[in-house]
Amino acid sequence: MRTLLVIGIGAGDPGHLTLGAIDALRSADVVIALDKGEQKADLLQARRTVVDAHSPGIPIIAVTDPERDRNPSDYRAEVRRWHGERARLLSEAIVGETDPDGTAAFLVWGDPSLYDSTLRIIDRMREETGLECVVRVIPGITALQALTAAHAITANRIGEPIHVTTGRLLPATSAADRRNCFVMLDGGTTWNEVAGPDTYMYWGAYLGTPEQILRAGFVEDIGDEVAALKCTLRDSHGWIMDTYLLRELDAR
Ligand SMILES: C[S@@+](CC[C@H](N)C(=O)[O-])C[C@H]1O[C@@H](n2cnc3c(N)ncnc32)[C@H](O)[C@@H]1O
Repeated sequence: MRTLLVIGIGAGDPGHLTLGAIDALRSADVVIALDKGEQKADLLQARRTVVDAHSPGIPIIAVTDPERDRNPSDYRAEVRRWHGERARLLSEAIVGETDPDGTAAFLVWGDPSLYDSTLRIIDRMREETGLECVVRVIPGITALQALTAAHAITANRIGEPIHVTTGRLLPATSAADRRNCFVMLDGGTTWNEVAGPDTYMYWGAYLGTPEQILRAGFVEDIGDEVAALKCTLRDSHGWIMDTYLLRELDAR
C-alpha cells in the first residue's frame, strides 16, 4: 500500500523543520506540491528550498491548482467542489508518480492541523478516487508560534484562554473571545474594525523569512500605519501573509 506523508514545514524558515520532518522527507520517493500560480510562486520556491536543503534529488511534482470562484453565492458548496477537483488531480499525480508500495510527501505550510486542507483532501481522495494509502502526519511550527517567538511573548496570559479565528469571522467574534485573539487569513485590515481604546496588537508578516516585518502597539496608535504598510508590501511582493494577536489590556 502507498504511504502519504503530510509534513509540516514551518512558517517560512527552513530551520523550522523538525528532525522528524527531515527524516520523513528523506524517506519519500516524490514530493507532491500544489502550484497555485505566479502569485504564490515564492511559496512553491520555499518548498523547493526545503527539498534542496534536506533531500536534494527527490522529484517535486507540481500539480496546477484548479480554478476557484472567489465570490460564489454558496461559499461552502464552492469550496467542496474545488477540493473535490483538487483531490482528483492530486490522486492522479500520486498514482502516476509512485509505485503501489511507494511514498509520496506533501509539504504543508506551518502545521497540517491549522487552516490547511491537505488532510481533508486526502480523505476525499480515499473516498472518491478509491486511493488506498497509509497517512502519517509530521507536525510543524505554525505561523502563530512564529509570531509569538518573533515578538518574544506568550500566547496566553496566566490561566486565560486563547481564541484563534480568521479575518472574515473576527467582526462576529464575541468580546470575551477577542480578549486574546489570534487572527489568520485576513485579506484586509480587520483589526481597525474591531479595536477599542485598550486593544493592543502584535502583528507580523512574512514571518520566518528574510522579509519578516513586525509591529506592536495599541491599534489606535499603529492600526492605520500597519494598514498602509500591508498595502505597500502586498504591492511590492505580489502577495502577503500576515498574522496578528489582538489583546485587550487593562485600561490605559
Ligand atoms: C492557510 S493558513 C495556513 C496556516 C498554517 N497551516 C500554519 O500552521 O500556520 C495561511 C495563513 O497563515 C498565516 N501565515 C502563514 N505563514 C505565515 C508567515 N510566514 N507570516 C505571517 N503569517 C503567516 C497567515 O495568516 C495566512 O493567511
